[in-house]
Amino acid sequence: MLRRFEDRDVGMVQELSTDPYVPLIGTLPPACDRAGALAYIARQRQRHVEGTGFSFAVGDAGSGQALGMIGLWLRDRALGRAQVGYAVMPRARRRGVATDALRALVPFAWTLPELHRLELHVEPWNSASASAATSAGFAVEGLLRGYLEIGGRRRDLMSYARIRDVPSGTEVPHPPSLGGA
Ligand SMILES: CC(C)(COP(=O)(O)OP(=O)(O)OC[C@H]1O[C@@H](n2cnc3c(N)ncnc32)[C@H](O)[C@@H]1OP(=O)(O)O)[C@@H](O)C(=O)NCCC(=O)NCCS
Repeated sequence: MLRRFEDRDVGMVQELSTDPYVPLIGTLPPACDRAGALAYIARQRQRHVEGTGFSFAVGDAGSGQALGMIGLWLRDRALGRAQVGYAVMPRARRRGVATDALRALVPFAWTLPELHRLELHVEPWNSASASAATSAGFAVEGLLRGYLEIGGRRRDLMSYARIRDVPSGTEVPHPPSLGGA
């Protein structure tokens, strides 16, 4: 389930902060203490208030216990686009949590009438994220070279997207060639 962040999610957030990659792609400090994790949770609850997006805790469907986070970022909302980002705490990985969270986020995103395109950017080495994206119906579009600085280094990112009203799996019949004509 996708739900509001609660202070009781502090343990999940602290565990997420031990992942070497997660602090590089968001505002979570590495190996943060309880106060740092609570501050992160407070920031997530502010995202909707300040209009920058929706940051959800991903909870176990039965118990609601937090397993990770997923965000729908709305900086480009007026242009009809939103970006998606997610992370699952190390202990809860490889159980389909990221895939299920993405599958839940997509229909929620389409309740925002302005949105036509959901974008996801994945580093080429991140096969777990790439698999979750394609399993949730995002189509690969191509490589964005030198797209973003992450961890002090300019990185290439694979672009994935879902388009409103295009059935998943039919948007890009074949991945486009990365080499040009
Ligand atoms: C990427 C991440 C969110 C995946 O979470 P997850 O809940 O383990 O993902 P899922 O269980 O839904 O797995 C998705 C797919 O990746 C595969 N997978 C999971 N972990 C993997 C790994 N370490 N190596 C290779 N494949 C992996 C799964 O087998 C599954 O494959 P399938 O679709 O063929 O069944 C998690 O590894 C993470 O939080 N990483 C750090 C943050 C991050 O990279 N976020 C995404 C930025 S774009």
